[in-house]
Amino acid sequence: MKGDPIKITSVKSVLRVYLRAVSRYPWMVLLVLVGTVLMQTANVAAPLYMRQLFNILARSAPSADVMPQIFGIIAMIALWWGVLWLSNRLEHFTNLRLISRVMADLIGKAFGYLIEHSYNFFISNFAGSLTHKVNKFTRSFQTMYESIFMTFFPSLLFVLGAVTVLYLRHPLLGVALGLWVAFFILFQIWVTNMRQPLRRVRAEADTQITATLADAISNQSTIQLFSGGRHERGRFGSVVETWRKAGVRSWTADAYIWSGIGLLMMGVEIGLLYAAVLLWQQGLLAVGDFVLIQAYLLTLFERLVTIQNDLRRFFDAFADAGEMVGILEKMHEVKDKHGATELKVASGEIWFDDVTFGFHLDPILKNFNLKIAGGERVALVGPSGAGKTTVTKLLLRLYDVKWGEIKIDGQNIAEVTQESLRNAIAFVPQEPVLFHRTLMDNIRYGRRDASDAEVIEAAKKAHCHEFIKKLPQGYGTYVGERGIKLSGGERQRVAIARAILKSAPVLVLDEATSSLDSESEAFIQDALANLMSGKTVLVIAHRLSTIMKMDRIIVMEEGRVVAEGTHLQLVNQKGLYQKLWSIQAGGFIGQDNKKYKKIGGGEEDEKPMESPYMDDIAEEEEEK
Ligand SMILES: Nc1ncnc2c1ncn2[C@@H]1O[C@H](COP(=O)(O)OP(=O)(O)OP(=O)(O)O)[C@@H](O)[C@H]1O
Ligand SMILES: [Mg+2]
Repeated sequence: MKGDPIKITSVKSVLRVYLRAVSRYPWMVLLVLVGTVLMQTANVAAPLYMRQLFNILARSAPSADVMPQIFGIIAMIALWWGVLWLSNRLEHFTNLRLISRVMADLIGKAFGYLIEHSYNFFISNFAGSLTHKVNKFTRSFQTMYESIFMTFFPSLLFVLGAVTVLYLRHPLLGVALGLWVAFFILFQIWVTNMRQPLRRVRAEADTQITATLADAISNQSTIQLFSGGRHERGRFGSVVETWRKAGVRSWTADAYIWSGIGLLMMGVEIGLLYAAVLLWQQGLLAVGDFVLIQAYLLTLFERLVTIQNDLRRFFDAFADAGEMVGILEKMHEVKDKHGATELKVASGEIWFDDVTFGFHLDPILKNFNLKIAGGERVALVGPSGAGKTTVTKLLLRLYDVKWGEIKIDGQNIAEVTQESLRNAIAFVPQEPVLFHRTLMDNIRYGRRDASDAEVIEAAKKAHCHEFIKKLPQGYGTYVGERGIKLSGGERQRVAIARAILKSAPVLVLDEATSSLDSESEAFIQDALANLMSGKTVLVIAHRLSTIMKMDRIIVMEEGRVVAEGTHLQLVNQKGLYQKLWSIQAGGFIGQDNKKYKKIGGGEEDEKPMESPYMDDIAEEEEEK
């Protein structure tokens, strides 16, 4: 059941997602388009009046007669510049709002969809890479939007305008400029492809530098303890050398490309000038036309010179966006059924009815049957890998079962909403992970409307209060990524406090106290005993001492129930439980088969060594 690889989506999918996001703001899009068309019209029109002005200046002697005409032309130039300025502001301010809104929508939606993906999805994908994809998804939108609406489309309008105007002046000029623009763009695309391998080598060298740095920094203590400083400098030096060479090659290619671009620009400049002079000689062009051609060429050069970068950025953004769109197109693996109802918990009876489940072809649970009565406290024991944690994950519906059903108070958990199901279960996982938020917030996650006083009360019950109050910032302490700044035992106690606060009708503890020392565990057992009263409880523990008080113990092996009963019943039966018990209670002398046999035979004189805490529990059991 490994997560399917996220497929890179097609061009169409990416555009569809972005277009849909943009189309939520039709008025803004319209304003941007109007602004763009006006801007380019002004860009094409203003030089036309310049042409007229220069023609008049060249033709006429300075006299008062021509002044009104000249002022008229200057007024028109001013008008078009005014249009340019206004439409530019209109386009710019609208774009600011549009882009920021769409980016916020996209990142919000992406997060919302991503976070609803299944548990399996998240264990099959690295957190870092997912974070990166979400970020790139929104940035790619910005890049692609800017490329299309602020670069390609306006440039296209301008080129069409300029070519048309020149064509009308003389077809030769228009055709020449049009062909040159087409050739220039093809040249740019060609060299962009040609230098792609060099860029890739350079990007790989960049990655190598980052990886080497990160590896060395995260192993800093090992480097120090093994006096590896010089060795590491040498290693890093050779990586840097590869990186430098890749850089030089890539930049040299750039330099050649720029030389080519320079030649092409010179070529069109001289060529058009020459053609214009020939036409002027035939009386077809006037001085003003030279001004017109120059004005258009300058604007064109400014636009086209970056087109290579714009194209590359556009395609890179496209590829980046595709990764996230792939995630957005992937169906959620565990979904609420259509018309799913709320789970209603009355007594809290849990029934694993002939459940079969596996991650791959081989099932982990095979026809697993277990009925836990409402309010019953059941322990699940068995060797590592027996499938105990899997049982809890299926109950929480982190995975869907392959065959069979899991029912709570007669309701199939696949038919109820996931939210209501998980609200009904307080779960303490085998390896609790915490948010990088304050301890107060982390515990409050159990019941997000709990007051500070309620959080502290729960923390006291879970014996967190002792270590929290010693921290300088107390409950306001941030716990580090995944809770790394706390010890394993402290994390477990926080997770228990959370479960205490949640106080759901079903309680599931997966090795909830495995990282605690015996003394802390003994304390917490009291708190847990309180918490368990009146609830249906499923406890998993390797340390059998912690589960002796349970109403029933289920022994699992290779995904099946192999025995069940109370502690006393099981310890007196030959079997896996007795073997496990003898190993643990005997002070980890499980290899000693003689002793094992004696315990099996119930010889009291050879009673195994037990911790004082275990003695207490054993006595209680016997009193019963
Ligand atoms: N996501 C997964 N993909 C593939 N196999 C998995 C996955 N999770 C667990 N397994 C396999 O399922 C089996 C049962 O795992 P499970 O975690 O339920 O064991 P467990 O009884 O809780 O063991 P432990 O006592 O060590 O916690 C193991 O063989 C494990 O390797
Ligand atoms: Mg487990």
